[in-house]
Amino acid sequence: MARPIISLFSFLFILSLNTISALPLYTYSRWIADENGTRVKLACVNWPSHLDTSFAEGLSKQPVDAISKLITSMGFNCVRLTWPLFLATNWMLAAVTVRQSFQSLGLDDYISGIQDNNPGLVNLSLIRALQAVVSTLGENNVMVILDNHLSKPGWCCSEIDGNGFFGDEYFDPEYWIVGLTRMATLFRGVRNVVGMSLRNELRGPRQNVEDWYTYMQRGAEEVHKANPDVLVILSGLNFDTDLSFLADRPVNLTFYGKTVYEMHWYGFTDGHAWEIGNLNQVCGQVYNNVKGRSGFLLDRGLPLLVSEFGVDLRGTNVNDNRYLNCFMAAAFELDVDFALWSLAGSYYIKEGVKDVEEYFGMLNSDWSSFRNPSLTERISILQTSIKGIVYVRFLGSIVQGSGLSIPTLHKIIFHPATGQCLLNSGTVGPLSLGPCSETQGWIYSSTKVLMLRGIILCIQADQLNKPAVLGSCTEPNLQWDTISDSQMHLQSKTTDGTEVCLDVGDQSFIVTNACKCLSGDSSCDPSSQWFKIVDSLINSSPSKESGKRRKENIRQLMTEATEGGS
Ligand SMILES: *[C@@H]1O[C@H](CO)[C@@H](O)[C@H](O)[C@H]1NC(C)=O
Ligand SMILES: *[C@@H]1O[C@H](CO)[C@@H](O)[C@H](O)[C@H]1NC(C)=O
Ligand SMILES: *[C@@H]1O[C@H](CO)[C@@H](O)[C@H](O)[C@H]1NC(C)=O
Repeated sequence: MARPIISLFSFLFILSLNTISALPLYTYSRWIADENGTRVKLACVNWPSHLDTSFAEGLSKQPVDAISKLITSMGFNCVRLTWPLFLATNWMLAAVTVRQSFQSLGLDDYISGIQDNNPGLVNLSLIRALQAVVSTLGENNVMVILDNHLSKPGWCCSEIDGNGFFGDEYFDPEYWIVGLTRMATLFRGVRNVVGMSLRNELRGPRQNVEDWYTYMQRGAEEVHKANPDVLVILSGLNFDTDLSFLADRPVNLTFYGKTVYEMHWYGFTDGHAWEIGNLNQVCGQVYNNVKGRSGFLLDRGLPLLVSEFGVDLRGTNVNDNRYLNCFMAAAFELDVDFALWSLAGSYYIKEGVKDVEEYFGMLNSDWSSFRNPSLTERISILQTSIKGIVYVRFLGSIVQGSGLSIPTLHKIIFHPATGQCLLNSGTVGPLSLGPCSETQGWIYSSTKVLMLRGIILCIQADQLNKPAVLGSCTEPNLQWDTISDSQMHLQSKTTDGTEVCLDVGDQSFIVTNACKCLSGDSSCDPSSQWFKIVDSLINSSPSKESGKRRKENIRQLMTEATEGGS
């Protein structure tokens, strides 16, 4: 039976991420969805379990169940759990108990902490301990992606650590296939294990495209054969920043609906570019590069997971802070599945140093609460399904071709520096920032007028350094251009012809200020003026109640406008 298209696209801004979906997961075009065809946005956090001890970090400080609950309370629905290959290929390592692993590394002082916080784990073999962590995550409705992070347990990654590419000292492709197959088999039927990422950050002097196809395709086939439920996740070259070779040579696999690609994007991926360049130019350029190397896959209808990104959560790293504003805009626009680096507040031992604090870690050093609550709040917007895509099952048959064009019903105006959106309650007057879930939606017309959805009111620039307001759409100067290399400044003219940009003033009210840092200057930060206009779908049949209210509002506003204008 032909179902009306509209029923396939309904608006649901906050997906209920904390209830587990109808697993396993599949891919439909660029989207990941559950068995029922409902979109599942993977909002993961990386939980390292690949360092020297081969044991999930933090378990000497908190119980695994308590950590799992912190993960869900931060809004994540998934963990990318990292494991070293030797855990699956080296029986001696897999059979060692957690206690023995710590003892053999001279880390005895952690054992009482593990025994106190996780008495059920301390005497388990390392492989059983990993299974137990996965199982506790499952009890808390947290999905898991098992990520083969490296071969030899330890900190990752460098060009010359022997773990970088097929044929490196610790990276024999045949052992790798054996290890992946064992792991896939071990977790077969474990419902919350939704994906396996074949190998983290391929890199180093040996890397080449030919071997990538040879081994990644083989690895994918073997994992799928051993465990047909999991998504098979393929990482790119150059520390997982480059999948550009897929542009003219797709992978050739015997199965479909199960393949996802992954990429990494940090501030330091581009060195100190964010600090030393003009931020509009750097953001425009880097975003273009990212699109060209991996982001383009989404436009081609292939799923992409940003499986690592993150910043120093102390907020003192200028390069990271500047990068994050640009990243937030991109991730919001692409509505991309992701895994943040990382959960870890600290490591048992990292590169020979004990109890090292991880400033990129969402949890504090004793793993008891959030390191940076406001940043946790800010990035939480990325955990929702921004484009409002809910049912994806039939997209493939409706939307012809690989390039996916989805009917655009409205725009959201996102402010990456705060993680909030441009709001107005539907009345003439000021604009402010607030939760994106409360947006009514905007229309950005071909004449570049920004109109509130459903009500004929437009954004006006009144005067320099004064509030921007929502008012009549018959005024002159209603045009808003997206300018600068970042394309994120919204520029218009005031009534006296002064060029101004939207900005955020006191108490989150929107003002129009002189446009700043458009080019050249590297010392200034334009991000308070950055707004990203993003497509989204919204409930096209609002409740009768709100429909009636809206009509009344319109009538009242039209009356006011006429009276005020005469
Ligand atoms: C999936 O669909 C089945 C059958 O219609 C239904 O019983 C189940 O509740 C759905 N699950 C989810 C998570 O939507
Ligand atoms: C673990 O084994 C040790 C002996 O090696 C024993 O003393 C301890 O009570 C055991 N702990 C638990 C929680 O079973
Ligand atoms: C894909 O692989 C199959 C064997 O698995 C082979 O027969 C086929 O020619 C390959 N296709 C391409 C386009 O390389």
